[in-house]
Amino acid sequence: MSADIQDTKTDEPVYVTEALIAEDIDAYLVKHQHKTMLRFITCGSVDDGKSTLIGRLLYDSKMIFEDQLASLEHDSKTVGTQAGDIDFALLVDGLAAEREQGITIDVAYRFFATDKRKFIVADTPGHEQYTRNMVTGASTADLAVILIDARQGVLTQTRRHSYLVKLLGIRNVVLAINKMDLVDYSAERFYEIVSEYSNFAKGIGMESFLPIPISGLKGDNIVTPSTAMPWYQGPTLINHLEVAPINDTEMQEHPFRMAVQWVNRPNLDFRGFTGMISAGTVRPGDAIRVLPSGKTTTVKTITTFDGDLDKAVAGQSVTLTFNDEIDCSRGDVIVQSDNPCEVADQFEATVVWMAEEAMLPGRPYLLKIGTQTVTATVNQPKYEVNVNTLEHTAAKTLALNAIGVVNISTDRPIPFEAYAENPDLGGFILVDRMTNATIAAGMLHFALRRSQNIHWQTTDVDRDAHAAQKNQQAKAVWFTGLSGSGKSTIANIVERKLHAMGKHTFLLDGDNVRHGLNRDLGFTDADRVENVRRVGEVAKLMTDAGLIVLTAFISPFRSERQMVRDLMAAGEFIEVYVDTPLAVAEERDVKGLYKKARAGQLKNFTGIDSPYEAPEDAEIVVNTVELSAEEAADRVIERILAAIG
Ligand code: ADX
Repeated sequence: MSADIQDTKTDEPVYVTEALIAEDIDAYLVKHQHKTMLRFITCGSVDDGKSTLIGRLLYDSKMIFEDQLASLEHDSKTVGTQAGDIDFALLVDGLAAEREQGITIDVAYRFFATDKRKFIVADTPGHEQYTRNMVTGASTADLAVILIDARQGVLTQTRRHSYLVKLLGIRNVVLAINKMDLVDYSAERFYEIVSEYSNFAKGIGMESFLPIPISGLKGDNIVTPSTAMPWYQGPTLINHLEVAPINDTEMQEHPFRMAVQWVNRPNLDFRGFTGMISAGTVRPGDAIRVLPSGKTTTVKTITTFDGDLDKAVAGQSVTLTFNDEIDCSRGDVIVQSDNPCEVADQFEATVVWMAEEAMLPGRPYLLKIGTQTVTATVNQPKYEVNVNTLEHTAAKTLALNAIGVVNISTDRPIPFEAYAENPDLGGFILVDRMTNATIAAGMLHFALRRSQNIHWQTTDVDRDAHAAQKNQQAKAVWFTGLSGSGKSTIANIVERKLHAMGKHTFLLDGDNVRHGLNRDLGFTDADRVENVRRVGEVAKLMTDAGLIVLTAFISPFRSERQMVRDLMAAGEFIEVYVDTPLAVAEERDVKGLYKKARAGQLKNFTGIDSPYEAPEDAEIVVNTVELSAEEAADRVIERILAAIG
């Protein structure tokens, strides 16, 4: 069975070694609660012996129960391992099979302890989803163990994993050169691999690493020093894990930062701000600043379950109260008043793409950073990094497992720090707004200066004044539907009639805009996203000018239609779905394009080999099979008139 405890750092459940049965966990945690906790990740290729090593660590730290041990010994015999060796891989793989139901990420967190420390090891499978799993497992790791098969030496995968480890900012690296028993415990072979790896490590800017010759299978230098390798004088793996520095401890040296997870308001007399301190130290009386607002006050109390504290440090979860009633809500970051972090809305970042569908530059995604969620768009990558050769190559998008450097803009300014300084305030994930799936992980490098030097200019004649002079309310009437569905025809009639009523209108039509403003765009998904983004921005300016703007674009994706809706003032966006079945549009084939598309002469044609996502809650749906264009237009006008009163 498996049991989980809440990991306060990530909010993700941590899967405790399944060998621990539920009743024992409390006692176990109590026993180890005052020890520091080291989080580490193991990376290796499929046959490097990762499972064996982890199994060995669990086994030697005696965290396996008798009955499991007996069955392990039994299984090892049946699969024919050498007498006396236990196949630890069986243990870990067996647990993995058990785990498969109901766990979405492919990372198993295992928990074990020695007299000196507690450990959480993220075990990331080495198969094709490696990047995604590694990034998930490594995001909170203090240390990485990179496994090498002594017979194989440094492989492409070793380089790739090492690059990711460096990228994720893990400074403490152990190079575990495994299977030393299969190379006769040769010092020469060990140093050969160390020297090869050193050259590579320098190339990626890795400051240092600790090489240890081990045998996971035989137990050499895992917990006990190897008698077979007297030439090695360094620490065993466990020795090192017990003394390696912990990020939280290091973060205590930084200026104070805490992202607010929630506002704790049990009654009118208490208003506290709860979160985990990601850097620095805080004491009652300290001057703090709330970002992005910049409001300042001083700390009144530091409250925890165990009572009020005189001091709290990075890694602790606390509730702060303030001496003044200032605005502070979830997502805000509380910082040291005289040493705040930056606030910006455009950044350079490295992005690791984790979804099957490639990135769409310009598409709005949700960006989760610290404790807040904002909407963000990613520009076309500056370059993609080939993790095997470390070359930078030009890229239009990022596909599954690709890593690239991009510019990102958020819909509002966010407090942040460079990932290298503070992973809590510089690490983010991107989430698809429609499916809620995590599609990328990223690390902020720095704010783009252009975002700081451009300020919104307030003009005296504002949008209300523009609309009032025209004696109307601005609207954006957005027609969407297949090519040949009748969008342009209906929009044209609507405009003619509104114009005749004295309304101030403007019609933006797909085919026309593609002759000018969007002449550079084709029909790939990315180009359609950009097409709609630009038209949305233009439509937005036109509503600011007080116009009733009508647009007729296929605009096939929900995400971008939603983006335009979000651009507009509340109630200003009216989505009109021109619902014409594909068969009907194809039969009409006004421009002869369906015929071409069917003949393969026109690629990426909507409805044929490019998708159309019908609206789910359009303000108006007009079915052109049942209604004539005139009738459809009248329906639309009715709705517009109702909306503008
Ligand atoms: S959108 O998908 O980016 O919103 P838009 O409405 O601007 O498309 O342009 C669609 C018009 O371009 C169609 O009505 C058709 O006349 C023409 N067109 C040319 N090639 C294609 C294609 N591959 N897919 C769809 N429309 C195309």
